[in-house]
Amino acid sequence: MLERLRSLSERILKSSYVHIVTHIDADGLTAGAIAVQTLRRLEKPHTIEFVKQLDATIMDQVHEKQYDLVWFTDLGSSVANKNPMFPMIITDHHSCTKDSDVPYHFNPHLFGIDGSLQLSGAGATYLVSKTIDPNNFDLSALAVVGACGDLQNMKYGKLVGLNEDIITDAQKARVMEKQVDISYFGRETRPIYKMLQYANDPIIPHVSGRESAALSLLSSLHIPSKDGKNWRRWIDLCTNEKRMIVSHIAQLLLTKGFGHTAVKRIIGESYSLLKETPGVELHDAKEYATLLNSTARYGQYEIGLQVCLGDRDEYLKKAQSLLRGHRHNLVEGVQIAKTEGIEQRDYVQFFHAKKSIRDTIVGIVTNMLLNDEETRNDLPLVGFAEKSDTEIKASARAPQHLVNKGLDLSIVIRKAALQVNGIGGGHNIAAGATIPKGKEEAFLHAFEEEVKHQLSS
Ligand code: C5P
Ligand code: C5P
Ligand code: ZN
Repeated sequence: MLERLRSLSERILKSSYVHIVTHIDADGLTAGAIAVQTLRRLEKPHTIEFVKQLDATIMDQVHEKQYDLVWFTDLGSSVANKNPMFPMIITDHHSCTKDSDVPYHFNPHLFGIDGSLQLSGAGATYLVSKTIDPNNFDLSALAVVGACGDLQNMKYGKLVGLNEDIITDAQKARVMEKQVDISYFGRETRPIYKMLQYANDPIIPHVSGRESAALSLLSSLHIPSKDGKNWRRWIDLCTNEKRMIVSHIAQLLLTKGFGHTAVKRIIGESYSLLKETPGVELHDAKEYATLLNSTARYGQYEIGLQVCLGDRDEYLKKAQSLLRGHRHNLVEGVQIAKTEGIEQRDYVQFFHAKKSIRDTIVGIVTNMLLNDEETRNDLPLVGFAEKSDTEIKASARAPQHLVNKGLDLSIVIRKAALQVNGIGGGHNIAAGATIPKGKEEAFLHAFEEEVKHQLSS
């Protein structure tokens, strides 16, 4: 692995100009920002571009520009082969095949490491950055944000594997601290009652989804929800108040028949960025990632990138205002999908949002729905949305227990997409595809066939 990382580093050092191509989500943004910082520090001229996915059109466009070197981050494994179209390096973590094992390609899967869990695109990019110059240790914080953006902390309630080594780097560089705390989203910025109202993993019986019940929970424990005119946030509570809430949630779960696994998930590791201001999204790695998802997924690449590169003024304010819209779109998206209805088949369940959910956020909505208590947890979920007049975006998410049984959505979706002349890929637990409009039924059929095959063999 070190040898491969060195091989990529040398290609960067030898080049006179680097063009970065990265993905539009939080992991892609942080990966791109790590690459930019690395090149800035080398005083090497560079440019960056954001894409939804790597397809033939993008490859042709990039080819035409005749860049000295192209650096693909958080994508690119699908184009790695012995005869590259142009000089390139790839730092990616999506599922890939053995024939992509070429000297310019770094992906943890090539070294027997699970890239859906142990290393993100930002993490893979950081490892190259650190190989170029150990002074780039501080960029580890962005790599942790990228891993949280890809939900790599979900399986165990904390980051594991190579991600853990990156956290150690971040601690040594004094840019990050980890603590065991409540695992719900919004510790830094949400009023406590909002955090409890939106709690979904595990859900809080009788409280999740109910604003008034969330407020009553606090008053029943004699915990003030306000400090003067301001709503109190999780970070404003004292240890005793936090403990009371956590044990109350645990009791609610146990009396409702949830097991220990659910109770254990109430707490998990949180990662604080020490150079950031407490109470601002950027102070918490998960909230930072959501803030970034509010930018590039809506085409506002520059805003997300400038925040990653350190702007705490104009661009941060713009990102924070986009965040409000993003939150609204997610809540509305879940509502739309529920109204449309989730249809169940033997080996898949799906909804079709048509034009009412953006293709760039339908994956997040699909994930939220799969975790919803009303959704079946024994089938993978596919969300469709219109990407253009001729193309459909499909996002697939699997429950962890099916992945443990051998389900690999990256293979399912690649095969199903190929059947209908589309392209797809991703990770075992989360994968996506673009397919021609009107081919949804054929796609679902092939999808089910492959799921059935994988779960029975
Ligand atoms: O392209 P990329 O690797 O950056 O995206 C990974 C995707 O997988 C993210 O959309 C993330 O939310 C999703 N994921 C998920 N559940 C997990 C792990 C990842 O939905 N447990
Ligand atoms: O877009 P969505 O969040 O559903 O993507 C889930 C995962 O599948 C991401 O890691 C994404 O990069 C990957 N994907 C892919 N090829 C596509 C669409 C998505 O590899 N055509
Ligand atoms: Zn990623």
